[in-house]
Amino acid sequence: METKIIKINRDNFTDDEFSEAAAILKKGGLVAFPTETVYGLGGNGLDPSASMKIYAAKGRPSDNPLIIHISDVKDLEALCTDIPDTAYRLADAFWPGPMTMILKKRPEVPRETTGGLDTVAIRLPSDIIARTLIRVSGVYIAAPSANSSGRPSPTKAEHVIEDLSGKIDMIIDGGSCDIGLESSIIDLSGDKPMILRPGFITKEDFERVVGSAEYDRAVISKTPEKGVVAKAPGMKYRHYAPKGQITIVEGESHAVADLINGETRKVTAEGTKCAVIVSEENRSLYECERLYTIGKRVDDKTIAHHLFDVLRQLDEDGVEVIYSESFDNLRLSEAIMNRLRKAAGYKIINAEGR
Ligand code: TXA
Ligand code: MG
Repeated sequence: METKIIKINRDNFTDDEFSEAAAILKKGGLVAFPTETVYGLGGNGLDPSASMKIYAAKGRPSDNPLIIHISDVKDLEALCTDIPDTAYRLADAFWPGPMTMILKKRPEVPRETTGGLDTVAIRLPSDIIARTLIRVSGVYIAAPSANSSGRPSPTKAEHVIEDLSGKIDMIIDGGSCDIGLESSIIDLSGDKPMILRPGFITKEDFERVVGSAEYDRAVISKTPEKGVVAKAPGMKYRHYAPKGQITIVEGESHAVADLINGETRKVTAEGTKCAVIVSEENRSLYECERLYTIGKRVDDKTIAHHLFDVLRQLDEDGVEVIYSESFDNLRLSEAIMNRLRKAAGYKIINAEGR
């Protein structure tokens, strides 16, 4: 299949530019598009065959449910039932934006879209291109991240082209995604609100609105605990994993740099290609030739924004051994470290007391 790539300028476009993409979605085809979090791979969420095509294009197990994207809070009622008051309060506070809510689904939502579950994930994105596509097509767009299963989520159109070119009908290139990490997921289908995936909207943000919200244990633990299975089916898969082995080093920044410098010296002497993921503040502490600066600790949004791009670059550059600083005590630490720990296969060491 030939994948058509169109560019849309988010600062200056007309609805007409979306007509071909809208027609593809209405006919059951697939269109990748930018959102404020990551690029999504969209299909008609009410069309079981479109959902099956999404799983096939990504190489994703079909028990891993999709998020349905809407353009108006009113659409909640068309897709969900038994909607608690907390859902409306959260929608008021965080939509449009990087929050996904899990609610009980209406029968109209096919099980192919929800991975066989009775609940459905819903998000109203803030990205103007995403919202225009949903509105112009009139389709409730089911969209997982537009990467091949197992690769880092795409934050630029180039990432989508790398993974899905030839497998889907169209890619809308709208430049790079603002946030760069997937949405925060909150489950409202049970007795109390549960955070299934940390993101730009933090536990503290949620608690300001709903009083108290618990993390699903599996998403914050530093090691995969035996018998603790993530509640969001997608969180259990190995994910975001680059080809090289990442080791995360925790501790005071000079101790971290000393340890990493010692390791990279050894590895380089053996002729192995190694690199270090560092914050701008600490860059000068490192000896290794290949430093991937991920962002600034004082502006942790920059770290979130670059994380997946850095992971992809490490692959592209064929780096075999990777060390990374740990990004703790930041507003977005849970969101950033949840992804980084998975990318490292939970290989974490502490530089102090060694
Ligand atoms: O920011 C985002 O959320 C992006 C953009 C495109 O909107 N989408 C995204 O989708 O990250 P995806 O499919 O890569 O991740 C969706 C996650 C998966 O871990 C899935 O298991 C979980 O949401 N999920 C979806 N429906 C669920 C449900 N009914 N119950 C529990 N978890 C669910
Ligand atoms: Mg994903």
